[in-house]
Order: sequence, then C-alpha cells, then structure tokens
Amino acid sequence: MTADLDAIQGLEPVFDALPGEAVPYRIASGEGRRYEVDNQLWTVIARAADTGGLFDAAFVLGPRGAGAGWHALPDHQRSYYVFHGQVQFWLPGESRILTTGDSVHVPPGVPVAYRMLGHMTKLLFWSAPGGALDVLADSGADVTAHIYSATGSSSIITSAAQLFSPVGAHGPDLPMVPPSAAWDDVLPASVSEYFVRAHTGDRRAWPDSVNAYGARGRNTGGRYFSVLTLGDKSPYIPRHFHRQHTENFFVLTGRVWLHANGVETLLTAGDYLHAPAGTIHSFAFDAHNTTMLGMLTSDIFENFFDVTGEHTEHAVYTEGLVHPEQMMGKLGAAMADLDLEFVGPPPERTRGLDI
Ligand SMILES: [Fe+2]
Repeated sequence: MTADLDAIQGLEPVFDALPGEAVPYRIASGEGRRYEVDNQLWTVIARAADTGGLFDAAFVLGPRGAGAGWHALPDHQRSYYVFHGQVQFWLPGESRILTTGDSVHVPPGVPVAYRMLGHMTKLLFWSAPGGALDVLADSGADVTAHIYSATGSSSIITSAAQLFSPVGAHGPDLPMVPPSAAWDDVLPASVSEYFVRAHTGDRRAWPDSVNAYGARGRNTGGRYFSVLTLGDKSPYIPRHFHRQHTENFFVLTGRVWLHANGVETLLTAGDYLHAPAGTIHSFAFDAHNTTMLGMLTSDIFENFFDVTGEHTEHAVYTEGLVHPEQMMGKLGAAMADLDLEFVGPPPERTRGLDI
C-alpha cells in the first residue's frame, strides 16, 4: 500500500476518539470504546475501520480470577502483551506466568487461554488482519464505565469462544497444565505459537537504548512485527515518514514525546498513537528507562532495526556504548532499501529540554 501523502500529511491527529478511517490518532489511557465481558473491561483502541483493515487492538483490564477459556481464531494472528500485573497463559500443552512486557503470540487456528492472577491486571490484545474485535460492537456489552464492575455482577457472561464465534472461533477442550518456569528468550524460526519474555528475543542496541523484537515477520506470516524499546532520555529523532507501513506506539513505562504531522503530544503509560503510512513523525524519550512497544504492520520495515542496531545479547543498554554517528553511518548505507524518507531535522522541543 502506498499512502496518499498530501492527504495524510495535512491531517492533525484525532485525539481520544476512534476516527473510523485510517488517519493519525492518539488514544490516552482509558479512552476508546468500552465493553465488559465476563468481568473484564475491553477498551478498544483500534478497529479495522481505523486501520485500513490491517489490525485491531484493545486493552483488557480485569480482576484476579478473570480470564478466557480456550479459543482459537481461524483467520487472525494474535499477540498479547502484559502491561500490568501477572497473567497465567496456556498454549496447547504448556503454560507460563507472564508479567509486564512479556508476551504470547498465537497463529491462526491455535487455541489460547489465560487467567489474571491479581487485581487491575492489564493486557494489550492485538489481532491481524482487522475485524476480530467487531464482535464486541454487536455483543450488547457496551459500557460507559472506565473500569470493570467491582462486584462482577453487571457484565455479560460469555466464553471467549462464544464471543468470537462470529469470526469462526472454536473452543477445544484441552488440559490446563501447570505453569512451567521455563525462560523463553528465543523467537521461533517460523510461524508458531510461543511465549517471549520482556527484553529478550532478538536484540539490537542503539545509542543509549536497546530494541527487542518480540515477534518478527517470520512469526506472523508477514502481517506485523513488534519491538520493545528500552531507552534513556533522548532527543527527538529526525522527522520522517513511511510510504508502505503503519507504525503504532504504546508506552508501557516512562514518558515519550510524539510529533505527528506537526502536532506534539506526550505519551505516558497506557497511551497509544497510531501513525498510518505517510504520517510525518518523530519521537523522544523524556524519562530514563522508558519502555515503549512498537507494533509495525506490515513487516516491511523489520530490517531497519537489524541494519541500524548492534547485535547484543544484553537485556539492557549500556550508557555511551553505542555512538549516534555509528548508527547514522549504518543507516546511511542502508537507506536505499528501507521504507523510510526523512523530511527535515528533529522537531523543536517545546518543553522538557534539559538533556
Ligand atoms: Fe517511523
């Protein structure tokens, strides 16, 4: 897909509302369309209508004991990231207890189940292509609240397999095996179901930051890839856009300034910004050890982190170890093959410029 650049670059981001068309928008934590299903608050932050059909995304917030039984979606590749709390996940024949930044990746047709282990547990649900979350709009579970019901009594009760039955879900009866303490730090070689721990997987160091691929195109059938970036306070990167892929920014911890089509906005924990192809953007970390999740779709830009970053087995960066000139030199050599166009110097910072 190639963006209509003039049209998209003339748009200021929509704030705190789902736009219903594929334009730049920002959703602050808690905003979005909300549904309560089986005592979990689903806050939908992206639907097929908002992403050109590329993906859906929602936060799922729930109390200890809430969860979802086995359910498989035949046509959707899914990823779940833990944003807060602890969650026990099951894939066929195995189980893990996952915590902040850990993730599980589920190909089409593979069943998954989960159980939240503490109150105010928060998951990011991501599904591609778009369309799976349209089931919520027809569920009758709309709520105006921004938190799940304290008593658990006001929600509709349905199984995940029933909820997603309009998109072909089935719910096999598989054993709920005990959790393993296995440490999952390697991405599989192909499309398959797997767990991966925060700050592991394939890692590429940048100046004062490190990028950890949680899913690569080879794991998602090319639909998307994800990168968890841990970084120090940093200046804005040069303004740029991508013709063929969409970039999604989620903040887990810390503070990130985002610049999108000339509008500056601060993202903190749980905030989200959607930059469809063509959007001119830049970002700067504004707190030490900020953690930001990037979900990019398709996987066309995956190589960017490989060619600009230094291979590392470390889970964190070492301040001063990688120099900006080193990274820019590698980028210059690879630019011609990347879906990346610079449009000018870094934006002016309007505040917080004490770095
Ligand atoms: Fe970008």
